[in-house]
Amino acid sequence: MAVALILGFVILLLVYHWMTMKPKDFPPGPPYLPILGSIFSMPKKLAHVTMAGEWRQKYGPVVGFFVGPRTAVAICGPREVLEVLRREEFQIRPDGDFFRERSFGKKLGIFFSDGPFWVEQRRFTLRHLRDFGFGKKSMEGFIMDEVEDILLHMKDLKVMQVTGLFSVSTLNVLWGMIAGTRYERNDKRLQDLLNRLTEAFRAGNPTGTLINIFPILKRIAPGFLGHTKVMDTLKSLQDFFRQSINEHEKSLDENNPRDLTDVYLKEMKRQYDNPVSTFTEEGLITICLDMFAAGGETTTSSLGFCLLYMVLYPEVQKKVQKELDAVVGRDRRPTLEDRANLPYVEAVLTELLRVCTIAPVTPPHCVDRDTYISGHFIPKNSTVLVNLYSLFQDKEHWGDPEVFRPERFLDADGKFVKDEWMIPFGMGKRVCIGEVLARSIVFLFFTSITQEFWLSVPEGDPNPSTVPLSGFTIAPAPFRVKVTKRA
Ligand code: HEM
Repeated sequence: MAVALILGFVILLLVYHWMTMKPKDFPPGPPYLPILGSIFSMPKKLAHVTMAGEWRQKYGPVVGFFVGPRTAVAICGPREVLEVLRREEFQIRPDGDFFRERSFGKKLGIFFSDGPFWVEQRRFTLRHLRDFGFGKKSMEGFIMDEVEDILLHMKDLKVMQVTGLFSVSTLNVLWGMIAGTRYERNDKRLQDLLNRLTEAFRAGNPTGTLINIFPILKRIAPGFLGHTKVMDTLKSLQDFFRQSINEHEKSLDENNPRDLTDVYLKEMKRQYDNPVSTFTEEGLITICLDMFAAGGETTTSSLGFCLLYMVLYPEVQKKVQKELDAVVGRDRRPTLEDRANLPYVEAVLTELLRVCTIAPVTPPHCVDRDTYISGHFIPKNSTVLVNLYSLFQDKEHWGDPEVFRPERFLDADGKFVKDEWMIPFGMGKRVCIGEVLARSIVFLFFTSITQEFWLSVPEGDPNPSTVPLSGFTIAPAPFRVKVTKRA
């Protein structure tokens, strides 16, 4: 009898909780349960497609749901995406165990920090990366060293697997600016770290993983839910960065800083007596982690998609080569200065960023106050998922968004035309800090490779699929390419 009473009471409590957990005017969305939230309604794979398609159709451009007991919204309509990225109150990141675990239990680094701490760290990093070549000639030099290296590597191979092909090259460019070190393509330690990082990216889901929603689970079943593996990878990366920082400390010459690590160490020393200094070794480790994780996987996948679409669209590849031959010729490599004179190449790269939205959903934003969007109430601290893919797949705007058609970015005279909706790197205060670098890497690798080789599907292989692999970001499914030196 007592048990039945307690059970009845608990059920009543849960029903009451369920009836009151949705605030007034909260956006419509998928079903949810008390405590568990909308977990059973969350898309498991390629979440951005479900959100921009099925969810938007059923619930509208602003969709409300629950991450466990916490309110969350998915912004799935293009106009609403642009509005959220512009509005001040949407520019913080969610807090929580999951986000702090990556940075020593604190809000460090750039990716998941906010407030004055984030402003100072982001500004410092950007300013000094510029000093070390970001957006300058020296950056081009770093990139071209890696381009020459990959061209040599490709010459030796007739058929190559594209997955992982560019990871060491892109990291060498990044790491050159952060820590002044270059790694060999077959460096075992780096290869292992990169493989594990890729695995962690692919296991992620922008809507949150089970552990992210219920942190208690990592104590109950850490191995089963993959938490142990993620933490091992994180620890290995942190050890790798700490070792690099220690080596820098030993040889630091404050008058001649060599890279971002040196200037950060110098700033740590300068602010040694400042009790509220935001410059700490843990902070530097987390910035390295942010750059490594945010920059490596995304740029590598972009290059993979470039090759994928060239083998699938040989007529586009031919036009790219025709333009390169006419503007650059074969006696020298393309440079960033050539870019303005290569409108077709620019159109192809822009169309690639549109059809292969590498970061289809931005890392979670959060609201710092109660607010409204399109008449819907968004409570303070709600998680906000911004679906960039919805911008790039809008039928009204693009006409035929499902078609790969670089010409959509060219006018009648063949000149490149910008489109305000093309924001694959985000927009506003949180815009990607690596945009210039990523665009330069992709341009220089893509043009040098297509200048040198004809790319095709190896005889006997099926046409590779354009359906990407899921994760925090997307990546091309494994495929092979045949490279033939151009006559
Ligand atoms: C094709 C390559 C890349 C794409 C598509 C991309 C895309 C993005 C997007 C969509 C965001 C989120 C904006 C938001 O939250 O609203 C972002 C943030 C960020 N990206 Fe990139 N990114 C790329 C390459 C890079 C590179 C090479 C770096 C490193 C230099 C980098 C570092 C970052 C960082 C640190 C942030 C966080 C910025 C902040 O929260 O203040 N990304 N990126």
